Amino acid sequence: MSDNNRAFRLRRRPTGQLAPGDLELVTEPVAPLRDGQALVRTLMLSLDPTLRLWMSDIRGYMPPVGLDDVMRGLGIGQVVESRRDDLPVGAFVSGWTGWQELCLADDAVLEAPFNVLPAPLPAPLTAFLGALGHTGITAYIGIDLGAVQPGETVVVSAAAGAVGSIAGQLAKARGARVVGIAGGPEKVRHVVDVLGFDACVDHRADDWREQLDAATPDGIDVDFENVGGEIMDHVFMRLNIGARVALCGMISQYNNSGGGDQWVGQVNIGQLIMQRATMAGFLVLDYAERFEEAIEALAGMLGEGRLKYDETVMDGGLELMPDALGALFEGTNTGKLVLRIGEPA
Ligand SMILES: NC(=O)c1ccc[n+]([C@@H]2O[C@H](COP(=O)([O-])OP(=O)(O)OC[C@H]3O[C@@H](n4cnc5c(N)ncnc54)[C@H](OP(=O)(O)O)[C@@H]3O)[C@@H](O)[C@H]2O)c1
Repeated sequence: MSDNNRAFRLRRRPTGQLAPGDLELVTEPVAPLRDGQALVRTLMLSLDPTLRLWMSDIRGYMPPVGLDDVMRGLGIGQVVESRRDDLPVGAFVSGWTGWQELCLADDAVLEAPFNVLPAPLPAPLTAFLGALGHTGITAYIGIDLGAVQPGETVVVSAAAGAVGSIAGQLAKARGARVVGIAGGPEKVRHVVDVLGFDACVDHRADDWREQLDAATPDGIDVDFENVGGEIMDHVFMRLNIGARVALCGMISQYNNSGGGDQWVGQVNIGQLIMQRATMAGFLVLDYAERFEEAIEALAGMLGEGRLKYDETVMDGGLELMPDALGALFEGTNTGKLVLRIGEPA
């Protein structure tokens, strides 16, 4: 195969938001395959807030992406050439494609082997990055950790996004009263009218604190936390005795990692003591043994029409990846944000 690969390499660690020059789009030749290798053409790339963390040299849950390395990332691809039996040509796969058009599937090099997707596909390819992929599973695990009970009040931040939209619906399915927090009136309507949450607070409105107070008259029993910062701080002021916080993410702080100066810490963290509340940080990567169970449950709900699946699919070339990442932080997506960079053969 004589194709060249186009890839984004990390040249500089961002300070604040990702800026031009932090990543470089390069064109490189693809070496001939050796035994035990396959070549995967990337069809779509997943936009995840954690991508920004991986660019910074901070204490994280994975090593930072090395300078000059291809940017790490999850995606869906199709095997286009193969010298291994488990990855036949034509198969659709999900895994660590990286920010590149062609990925060498070599278990000695990849973070983890690719997963071959079922054939025929039970859902659109994009769903394997969203509701039936790592984001859906994250929501499933987090709601379980929160031990959501019928009649409890659950707050979900970034409620219109990939994880939040599923988490809220799972909490509803457990009989909870679910209040979302999202940015802007359009998202607020979407969260209530389409996703079926009981209420939603517009965190871009000046009176968002009053909105949250009004929407949680009986306090908050479970916080599915995706945002952190001042939103989490106000949520903490409404925690009930014995509340649980499933600390999934803190996207409001990610652009501060590695040099930003906006981080002020969580001011109201002491409410965990006052309310005898518990907070558990969790990483979906640690729950591999529950992936099958989670996907089965999510696929079942989808199939029965009990789970609304939402996504924002950007179309264009690989060169759009930095802008697409910016879109997550600006909040222009609803549901899972994906960049489609190729069509199946
Ligand atoms: N623990 C895990 O294993 C795990 C796995 C996956 C994801 N996560 C975490 O889950 C969270 C959601 O991830 P996702 O992939 O589902 O992304 P997403 O919610 O689809 O997209 C991010 C959303 O966050 C909101 N946002 C961005 N900056 C914000 C800010 N400064 N203040 C308030 N809201 C802000 C925006 O929505 P609005 O327009 O509504 O503001 C944006 O649409 C992230 O914190 C991520 O790190 C954790």
